[in-house]
Amino acid sequence: MKNKILVTGGCGYIGSHTVVQLIENNFEVTILDNLSNSQENVIDSIKEITGRKPYFLKCDLKNLKHLENILKYHKGFDAIIHFAAHKAVGESVQNPLMYYQNNLTGLINLLASAKKYKIDNLIFSSSATVYGKPKSLPISEKNKTQRPSSPYGNSKKVAEEIIEDLAAASKDFSAISLRYFNPIGAHKSGLIGELPTGIPNNLMPYITQTAIGLREKLMVYGNDYPTKDGTPIRDYIHVEDLADAHVKALSRLLNKNQESNFEVMNLGTGNGFSVLEVIKTFEEVTQQKLNYEITQRRAGDVPELYADAKLAEEKLNWKADRTLDEMIKSSWVWEQKARKQS
Ligand code: NAD
Ligand code: UFG
Repeated sequence: MKNKILVTGGCGYIGSHTVVQLIENNFEVTILDNLSNSQENVIDSIKEITGRKPYFLKCDLKNLKHLENILKYHKGFDAIIHFAAHKAVGESVQNPLMYYQNNLTGLINLLASAKKYKIDNLIFSSSATVYGKPKSLPISEKNKTQRPSSPYGNSKKVAEEIIEDLAAASKDFSAISLRYFNPIGAHKSGLIGELPTGIPNNLMPYITQTAIGLREKLMVYGNDYPTKDGTPIRDYIHVEDLADAHVKALSRLLNKNQESNFEVMNLGTGNGFSVLEVIKTFEEVTQQKLNYEITQRRAGDVPELYADAKLAEEKLNWKADRTLDEMIKSSWVWEQKARKQS
């Protein structure tokens, strides 16, 4: 019998790549998504890649009644992977309640319904943002979390605390919170990738949209940080490596291999690259000249963030091994295909 997995936010960027790998690893997948930041046709692309179509339920997690009805009629999920959330840092500063409502009410509704319908295993999408401005690098799970600088980030920190409290109160419930560093890249087929709505906030989609002519130039936010070339350093991780970690974390949960019923793990490569290094690599691997300009720092950016990813390596038998070149190449292939279709 195949294990049945509910994937919230499965039409989104990281969710869709994970659904592909779940199907390839013989899980039966149901996606639940309200399509607030994605499109239903991603399901056809998943079918094109895997040969199998995941089930799809359109539902907003903020609607508890609808969610409960769904779980009442679609029984027997072995686990939930919870991706669904809003994720734009700047927007969360402008509209904090929208973020707390979506990301925390959505989570609480999901946990309450899962409890009612006895779904005991959860994987949660967290973020390196829960570490705030790190005091030492590389950053391991032993580092204390700090209040993140945005309501988005804080919604992740509070969400982890809610899940931890639930795990403490209920020994039947098990969860793994995965703290992503900077996911970039796209599926090797070029059929799925990141489709930001409006003007991208993140570096990689801004680079590819500039190179393809959708944006005039990339603004580099500050070159006066205490780093090798003055621009901030991040730990970029290929979305396919990230997806693979979810499949492995899921197996750890389902095989009851956890050491405690609430675990947290960093997902990164352990390597840091500066903004200028990313631009240079992009120009080299794509042979595209990028129009960019240095401007002032962006509020809330930390100078340097990269993971100590040894815990996930040890506990999940997983390592992010795709290179920055591969990440950038796949992002560029995806951007070119996506623009041809639009
Ligand atoms: P995404 O926006 O592409 O995907 C999120 C999906 O959730 C979308 O399909 C959206 O329609 C859906 N969704 C949002 N609110 C919903 C709701 N109330 N009910 C039902 N569906 C809802 O984002 P992503 O980049 O794939 O991120 C997935 C998760 O990973 C998020 O929780 C995000 O906070 C977290 N994360 C992302 C990054 C990153 O850089 N992409 C970094 C760290 C953590
Ligand atoms: N940057 C630019 N120009 C841009 C966009 C970004 O110079 O147009 C720079 C930023 O200043 C930063 C680096 O590129 O130094 C990376 O920025 P991103 O916005 O791509 O990523 P962040 O590290 O700021 O944020 C990411 C996720 C968040 C998450 C955070 C955790 O997008 O969801 O990591 O650290 F909260």
